[in-house]
Amino acid sequence: MASSMLFKITLISCLAMATAHKKAAPPADSSGSTNSTGSTGSNIFDVTKYSASTSASPSANSKAFLEAFKAACKVKGRPTFLVPKGTYQLGPVTFEGPCQGTHITFEIQGTLVAPPDVKSIPGNAWIEFDSLHEMVLQGGGVFDGQGQSTWPLPSHNKPISIRLMKCVIGRITNITSKNSKFFHMSLHHAEGIIIENLKIVAPGHSKNTDGIHISGSSNITLNNIDIGTGDDCISIGPGTNNVIVTGIKCGPGHGLSIGSLGKYKDEEDVGNIHVKNCTLAGTTNGVRIKTWPGAPPSEAFNITFDDVTMTNVSYPIIIDQKYCPNGECTTHAPSLVKLRDIRFSRIRGTSNTPVAVKLACSDKEPCQNVKLQDISLKPLTSAIDEISSFCTNVHGAVSGIQNPDPCLGPHPGNSSNSDSSSAPSPAPTDD
Ligand SMILES: *[C@@H]1O[C@H](CO)[C@@H](O)[C@H](O)[C@H]1NC(C)=O
Ligand SMILES: *[C@@H]1O[C@H](CO)[C@@H](O)[C@H](O)[C@H]1NC(C)=O
Ligand SMILES: *[C@@H]1O[C@H](CO)[C@@H](O)[C@H](O)[C@H]1NC(C)=O
Ligand SMILES: *[C@@H]1O[C@H](CO)[C@@H](O)[C@H](O)[C@H]1NC(C)=O
Ligand SMILES: *[C@@H]1O[C@H](CO)[C@@H](O)[C@H](O)[C@H]1NC(C)=O
Ligand SMILES: *[C@@H]1O[C@H](CO)[C@@H](O)[C@H](O)[C@H]1NC(C)=O
Ligand SMILES: *[C@@H]1O[C@H](CO)[C@@H](O)[C@H](O)[C@H]1NC(C)=O
Repeated sequence: MASSMLFKITLISCLAMATAHKKAAPPADSSGSTNSTGSTGSNIFDVTKYSASTSASPSANSKAFLEAFKAACKVKGRPTFLVPKGTYQLGPVTFEGPCQGTHITFEIQGTLVAPPDVKSIPGNAWIEFDSLHEMVLQGGGVFDGQGQSTWPLPSHNKPISIRLMKCVIGRITNITSKNSKFFHMSLHHAEGIIIENLKIVAPGHSKNTDGIHISGSSNITLNNIDIGTGDDCISIGPGTNNVIVTGIKCGPGHGLSIGSLGKYKDEEDVGNIHVKNCTLAGTTNGVRIKTWPGAPPSEAFNITFDDVTMTNVSYPIIIDQKYCPNGECTTHAPSLVKLRDIRFSRIRGTSNTPVAVKLACSDKEPCQNVKLQDISLKPLTSAIDEISSFCTNVHGAVSGIQNPDPCLGPHPGNSSNSDSSSAPSPAPTDD
């Protein structure tokens, strides 16, 4: 009873938050999609009228896209930039605002195909939206990053497929990103953006292909997104505040992550991140917070993971303050990222590793107020006798069902348990 009450209260407050965020974003604009003939409507800027075509070269199409955008950006009112159905080879493009109008819609109905080699995209992103106010990206189109040959390469110099920089108020809906070279999508210094009803696809072995990475941004809602990729489905980096993540299906992939944090100096705090009603299947982590060894001081706080279903997941619940993928870290000093007010609630499903709950916090900044509520995990197969939890430097409390047996003390604010010596300390090796 108590837990169903809690569920309702949480649900209501989450819905209220989602609504609050939604108010900030413009409604999806239908003018472009209902008029797909599109050509001469005064507010419709069809790339094929600017000599883009399904037979043109990537650079010719980039030029045409940019011209259509520049024209759209000059009109007052609510222009629509239209890419009709068809497959277009496309080099890098930056849609840079601010524009004259108050609202711009990118109606992408076609499939955009990136050049396969990294050299053709010298910047950080293949398609960038920069400094736009009230933008909508929609249309059922596909962004094909053609990353296959770049996945084995080191991560520097690989472009993000879709990047939003300094965009304020926007909605991204009804598009597909596939086979990005690096992250599928990233938001940096963005505010008031809703992203929903997307598909993100790449194989499990595609390196560094995070689904959606958010940093330095606030008031972001992610809802109803299917993500299968080779790195984190969602990753939330430094300086991010007020994020709601709901209805994500993740797998394959490395799970839903806060971090990694503390790789660089002067990172800003992360706060008020709420993940709810998500499912993960066959991922190498479930819900995770990760910070680097030797991380300089910052904080991550008010983070909740509620109603998450896991199937065949490694490390379903994990805090890792010694995050060191591929031995990349240069120190073993404790992380100084302080993690506090963190809740894992109603997490259920199957673990394919014996350590189903791993809370490995910093020796110097123990985690504060970590709550485990109604954790119901089982071993995936009989090959795993028993699942367990592992804690170091965690202060917090548990309530409700606890499977595996918890390693946290029963009382809020109780000092750290000391059962770490006997438990194994496996470290996930992925990034
Ligand atoms: C579609 O565009 C055409 C050409 O400009 C215009 O005549 C027509 O009214 C538009 N239809 C709608 C539904 O906006
Ligand atoms: C997605 O876009 C396509 C093409 O414009 C449209 O037919 C379809 O209805 C859209 N789907 C949703 C859910 O909006
Ligand atoms: C972000 O949220 C805060 C607090 O809810 C609000 O004051 C602010 O106006 C929002 N900003 C945008 C761009 O939505
Ligand atoms: C939970 O997410 C799924 C998509 O994975 C969605 O279909 C369902 O409606 C969501 N449920 C609630 C209560 O929001
Ligand atoms: C946690 O975050 C939520 C939503 O962002 C906010 O409403 C709430 O006040 C925050 N709680 C604390 C203790 O800061
Ligand atoms: C579990 O996930 C792994 C990795 O995605 C996959 O190879 C394996 O087939 C899955 N096992 C089951 C029983 O689903
Ligand atoms: C903390 O937990 C231990 C063991 O469960 C218990 O003996 C001790 O009294 C608790 N301390 C406080 C301050 O609650």
